[in-house]
Amino acid sequence: MFETLEPLPPDAILGMMALYRADPDPRKIDLSVGVYQDEEGRTPILESVKRAERAVFENEDTKTYVAIAGNAAFNRGVEGLLFGDAHPAVADGRVVTLQTPGGSGALCVAAHLIRRARPEARVHISEPSWPNHIPLLTLSGLEIATYPYYDQRAHRVDFERMVDAVEKIPAGDLLLLHACCHNPCGADLTRDQWQTLAELCERRGIVPFIDLAYQGFAEGLDEDAYGVRLMSERMPEVVVVSSCSKNFGLYRERVGSVSIVAANAESAKGVASHAANVARGIYSMPPDHGAAIVARILGDAELRALWEREVAEIRTRLNALRRLLADKLAERSTPVDFSFIANERGMFSFLGLDRERVVALRERFHIYMIESSRINVAGIRPANVDYIADAIAAVLE
Ligand code: LMR
Repeated sequence: MFETLEPLPPDAILGMMALYRADPDPRKIDLSVGVYQDEEGRTPILESVKRAERAVFENEDTKTYVAIAGNAAFNRGVEGLLFGDAHPAVADGRVVTLQTPGGSGALCVAAHLIRRARPEARVHISEPSWPNHIPLLTLSGLEIATYPYYDQRAHRVDFERMVDAVEKIPAGDLLLLHACCHNPCGADLTRDQWQTLAELCERRGIVPFIDLAYQGFAEGLDEDAYGVRLMSERMPEVVVVSSCSKNFGLYRERVGSVSIVAANAESAKGVASHAANVARGIYSMPPDHGAAIVARILGDAELRALWEREVAEIRTRLNALRRLLADKLAERSTPVDFSFIANERGMFSFLGLDRERVVALRERFHIYMIESSRINVAGIRPANVDYIADAIAAVLE
């Protein structure tokens, strides 16, 4: 039977991570996978996580199952992060949150739940989007469509074209939006644009489906949840998926969440029951460890303050690295104006290079990025930025 399965091409992102790891050249630089790196090129464990982890180890007294929906304290803590302290949707009992295995697990549960609730619904995804959005969501059988989002020439959100496309989305379909730090382009929606989209979704009966994988990396923890909170105030139904991989640095622990805002508390009961049934059918229960760490951080004033400072440091550093690279490229008078890199947010920007130049950067200079020319700015360091800028200038000659 299995001889029918031909090998597939490597994953666009994780395949590049593997190529980088296999490269023995000491000059190699990893701008590929969306993982934070510090000044030494390491992906450190946050101090708040280390302390919380010690407390978890000391206090845990069983390894029995937790629950299908995961850790209740984690779910409450994450709802606070996503929706704020006193969001009416939460107060009215309209929000159902489940801990999931990473943001990918959250997308998967959401997709199956949507398919169960409305099999004909399509999910409209930004062009471009995270390369795994479509493969992951279509596994449930959901149909996907795309809407224009990023103007590659002007390096900005093409909001007029986006709105034109959203105007044509039929009622009951879902609009997948990146809450902040758009992956892969780093160009985010402004508050005015969120307002426009909220009006549009309301008028057309479109259900917002918001992916928040980088909360705290753009403007701040509350600021980055603006779209989530606005949509959940205005709309009867919203789907929110989030990840603790980046802002807690818990990548390999697989911690995320899915929150469904239902039209009313009665409907939320049906959502909770079906979401649990979907999760049970896919993975039964999420892993405990990472969520126990997050729950401890969010439930302890001191640890939480430490974590918030650590997230702020990462955010400040990412923005400084953006400025640094843009300045270094400007010094080299490249034919392309790269000043947009400094204005974008989060880990990613598109350099706007064609595939041939991306391959040249990899093969001649050992600089790894996704073939779309998406870079992870966290891989830039004061010690390698001149080398990177020289290499980009060289392939543009
Ligand atoms: C990325 O976009 O690089 C990250 O979200 C890692 C992944 O799973 O693709």
